Amino acid sequence: MSQRSQWGTRAGFILAAVGSAIGLGNIWRFPYVAYDNGGGAFFLPYLIALFTAGIPILIMEFIMGHKYGGSSPLTFSRLNKKSEYVGWLQVFISFGISTYYAVIIAWALAYSVYSFNLSWGENTGEFLMGSYLQAGEVGSVGGIVPSVFIPLVIVWAVVLAVLFKGVKKGIEAANKIFIPALVVLFLIIVLRAVTLEGAAQGLNAFFAPDWSQLGDPSVWTAAYTQIFFSLSICFAIMITYSSYLPKKSDLTNNAFITGLSNSGFELLAGIGVFSAIGFVAASTGNGIDDFAADGVGLAFAIFPQIINQMPFLNGLFGFMFFASLVLAGLSSLISISETYIAAFQEKFSISRTKAVAFGGGLSALISILYATKGGVHILTAVDRYVLTVGVGLSGLIEVILLAWVIRKVKDLQDHANGLSQIRLGSWWTICLTVITPILLGYMMIASLYSEFT
Ligand code: PFF
Ligand code: NA
Repeated sequence: MSQRSQWGTRAGFILAAVGSAIGLGNIWRFPYVAYDNGGGAFFLPYLIALFTAGIPILIMEFIMGHKYGGSSPLTFSRLNKKSEYVGWLQVFISFGISTYYAVIIAWALAYSVYSFNLSWGENTGEFLMGSYLQAGEVGSVGGIVPSVFIPLVIVWAVVLAVLFKGVKKGIEAANKIFIPALVVLFLIIVLRAVTLEGAAQGLNAFFAPDWSQLGDPSVWTAAYTQIFFSLSICFAIMITYSSYLPKKSDLTNNAFITGLSNSGFELLAGIGVFSAIGFVAASTGNGIDDFAADGVGLAFAIFPQIINQMPFLNGLFGFMFFASLVLAGLSSLISISETYIAAFQEKFSISRTKAVAFGGGLSALISILYATKGGVHILTAVDRYVLTVGVGLSGLIEVILLAWVIRKVKDLQDHANGLSQIRLGSWWTICLTVITPILLGYMMIASLYSEFT
């Protein structure tokens, strides 16, 4: 057995973990989820979810990876022989996410080029579904769409090249460039957005608290779902990344830095996105609600509209917006892909090169499915299932297994407390053993109920 890979520096690990966390979820998902679930009032369930589940589970995953030193399946099997399958379940979900996450980055890459000429024209929604995606009728699959396929090839070439180079020279080196660049670009974008006319109305709409919504359970589900997806927890990622940490590592502190940086970026994105929405509403004489949206619509139909309306250097602003989606997306895609690469490498005792070629290659091949006519409909359907079922289910299984079936929370706590100045006390154990399992269990039942009735 060759020596297991390791991060070069502590900052390198943190940048990679933050790079995984900060992704499309922060930019195109969080602002609308908050707006739609109580606006300013949403920060209450959001912060509760962050401190009762997000950060506690992130700490737990950092400890698991560090203590047992393996990919997710290997880590779970070292915790308990019979629980290896939990690791594989997570790897499987991550594999699924990677197949479509790559395609969204490809769209952003194409749109960063389109920005310069505003190639999307006046009717941005029609351009997106028609000329660009050739979405056609729902379910009409067939024929590769070159404007998606070509950037998709570029995305995978970059990701596979980084992964081939390994943990330190590939993943760490890439994140050391991507994340500082992303932060600088995004700060410029947000500064520009808040100084646009109408920004204040957008921000007022975003932050206006609707406390009455907090009585609705779906608001709480939205907060927990956002935290899990956004922090990349329960997807094998953080276990895999922390398995490359050196012996002496302050895991608890690293988790706080990662979790708080991700939420900070999320808040920044909310401010930027709603300032820009306020601007387009004011300049077209429409209401905020005509533009408030998330996902594909927000990034690829509304934002081009905003860019069209901007007074000067709008092409450059557009380029920076889509380039930041690309950077945020790439660092997350690299982390998702590393989960199955590490798992294959260990399970089948193959070289990293073979694992990247096989695992990454397979995901790249499958992703071509979404680059076909109508592929966007498959993409949105898969994404919906991942978010409604996958996220809660893998979280619930992980927490119940550790807290109640194999009962390892105490061991993990001792491991971390021997390495950190921040002591994990009863806050941490109660969150993991009581609060999170109950809330996640409830969430799963409620969302399955509404999904299938
Ligand atoms: N945390 C990333 C985001 O907020 O966009 C998304 C993500 C990456 C989710 C990797 C899941 C995952 F496995
Ligand atoms: Na995130």
